[in-house]
Amino acid sequence: MLSLVGGSQRSLRTVFLLALVVLLLVGLLHVHVELFLPQIRAEVEGPPVTNIMFLKTHKTASSTVLNILYRFAEMHNLSVALPQGPDFHLGFPWLFVARYVEGALQAGPHPRPPRQFNIMCNHLRFNLPEVQKVMPKDTFYFSILRHPVAHLESSFTYFKDAAPAFRAARSLDAFLETPHRFYNASAGLRNAYARNGMWFDLGFDSDAPAEDVYVRARLAEVERRFQLVLIAEHFDESMVLLRRRLRWRLDDVVAFRLNARGQRSVARLSPPAQERALRWSALDWRLYLHFNRTFWARVHAELGPRRLSAEVERLRARRRELQALCLPPGALRSGASIADPQLRPYQSGAADILGYVLRPGLDNATLRLCQRMVTPEVQYMARLYSLQFPEKPPKKIPFLEH
Ligand SMILES: *[C@@H]1O[C@H](CO)[C@@H](O)[C@H](O)[C@H]1NC(C)=O
Ligand SMILES: *[C@@H]1O[C@H](CO)[C@@H](O)[C@H](O)[C@H]1NC(C)=O
Ligand SMILES: *[C@@H]1O[C@H](CO)[C@@H](O)[C@H](O)[C@H]1NC(C)=O
Ligand SMILES: *[C@@H]1O[C@H](CO)[C@@H](O)[C@H](O)[C@H]1NC(C)=O
Repeated sequence: MLSLVGGSQRSLRTVFLLALVVLLLVGLLHVHVELFLPQIRAEVEGPPVTNIMFLKTHKTASSTVLNILYRFAEMHNLSVALPQGPDFHLGFPWLFVARYVEGALQAGPHPRPPRQFNIMCNHLRFNLPEVQKVMPKDTFYFSILRHPVAHLESSFTYFKDAAPAFRAARSLDAFLETPHRFYNASAGLRNAYARNGMWFDLGFDSDAPAEDVYVRARLAEVERRFQLVLIAEHFDESMVLLRRRLRWRLDDVVAFRLNARGQRSVARLSPPAQERALRWSALDWRLYLHFNRTFWARVHAELGPRRLSAEVERLRARRRELQALCLPPGALRSGASIADPQLRPYQSGAADILGYVLRPGLDNATLRLCQRMVTPEVQYMARLYSLQFPEKPPKKIPFLEH
């Protein structure tokens, strides 16, 4: 048998070797092309990163980042560490533990290690040892911060009813005049939104005095764990840097702004009130100043100003294209006025949260693409949950029930 086909095997081998040489040459030429085009090379080195932990801080444009991560997970069939059962958060405001993740703890007669996931991105209070139980060793950690004045203003409106400290105050100005009249540390976690909220999300004590040694030690901890800390005020630059680090395609990081407030529920603070806000949020202020510095240092070291503005322009141009494709004029509207329950965002506190309607008459493929981009986080999470755990009861979304 072997000797009969020996001749044809040899010629097959020759063909195979020739093909290999051609492939190698193509590979080499490709490398050469890339050497002359560093811009392209940097983007294609290695496969895309797929193990990702995003610490979703509150009121920091993080819902838009969540949409980006959900879309990527869905398109690539990646597993997401979703809140267990009927929950919508990974235990927030309690410190995160692995059992808050659906399916992490595997039942059975013998104890088994928790199941691991590709992506973790829902609200949680950071607790590294527990996060490491459900996320692989090579996970990429990142987060996003916002200027503490804007952050506090947004928190005040959004959590007006949730935080006892805010509920009692007529306005943020009034609150900042005498914060200790309204803020009582013994109200515990329910006031987590009312002071140094980002510091709290990171798992630290939001009532600690902002002493230098303490603050520096915590900042160093964040530096060690998070490969990237983005800045909401520079969202597009942040997406450029994120895409580079994750080695994703441009479309993967293009998003429409989600969970934003309408102008009528955005207040402006006077300069003295802004000063008070920064004193009140001293820990968040130190956090923001530090990571704003490291963010720009990284952007300049990795991209340089010319390359940065070219990349930001590409991102914006693509977003305009997708907006033209998906959204009719006036698509961004008051959430309550959106008829399609799948696209209606959750409303909270005194905030008027905006949502989108889609252009009518889109073909099926475009419709799916556009729907993904404008689906609010709660509905998107519920959908991923049903996809990932078809045997479990679907998530109930209370604000859509009636
Ligand atoms: C998606 O992943 C799950 C679990 O990892 C697997 O069972 C399923 O077949 C995958 N589906 C596709 C379309 O790749
Ligand atoms: C804070 O709350 C505790 C317990 O509810 C109460 O005893 C205390 O008087 C409060 N302090 C202020 C300053 O309101
Ligand atoms: C953040 O960094 C940028 C660039 O260095 C700088 O222009 C800006 O003033 C910084 N923001 C704050 C609040 O320090
Ligand atoms: C588009 O979707 C609708 C509803 O799901 C379906 O009835 C129709 O056949 C689809 N059209 C194409 C061209 O796939």
